[in-house]
Amino acid sequence: MRIGVLASGSGTNLQAILDAGLPVVVVIADRAATGALDRASAAGISTELIEREAFLPDRAAFTDAIVGALKNHEVDLVAMAGFMTILSGEIFDEYPGHVINTHPSLLPVFRGAHAIADALAAGVKVTGCTIHVATANVDEGPILAQEVVPVFGGDTVESLTERIKAAEHDIYPKILWQLVDNAS
Ligand code: GRF
Repeated sequence: MRIGVLASGSGTNLQAILDAGLPVVVVIADRAATGALDRASAAGISTELIEREAFLPDRAAFTDAIVGALKNHEVDLVAMAGFMTILSGEIFDEYPGHVINTHPSLLPVFRGAHAIADALAAGVKVTGCTIHVATANVDEGPILAQEVVPVFGGDTVESLTERIKAAEHDIYPKILWQLVDNAS
């Protein structure tokens, strides 16, 4: 199994994936100045910067560029780790059931880009993270694993984000290893 990671942010999930020894062959970012690319470089892994902005507003062309890069690196499992661009159908046709995502809520509640703020606003006492197969419908697709995270009285978006990330770092690499092991 050759894993390609898609990331937009600081890359702490990528780091957990790398630290778990998963067979990552390329890290692709959709924007510059992401910690993810630095982390990949530090680990000696190929990086690609495919800027979303350069393709606006053409989502299909952007997705095609991402798929092209994944194919160049002979990727067969795609792990989205804080990737903030919605991709069009081509990637799910090319990699059916092989695009995995982590989302910072207990899906199907709190879909979307503001899941943690939405959970705080709703006053829930527990939230968490979900590892799921990504499909063309954003934040849907078969759930592979979830970890519950408590919400405390004084929590801010920042403090809750950190607690949820710790849960993601725990389960995301484990699930990816299961997928790698099952394929071999
Ligand atoms: C993760 O919490 C992920 O669920 C969300 O964005 C965050 C990415 O964090 N979509 P990082 O870049 O892995 O640190």
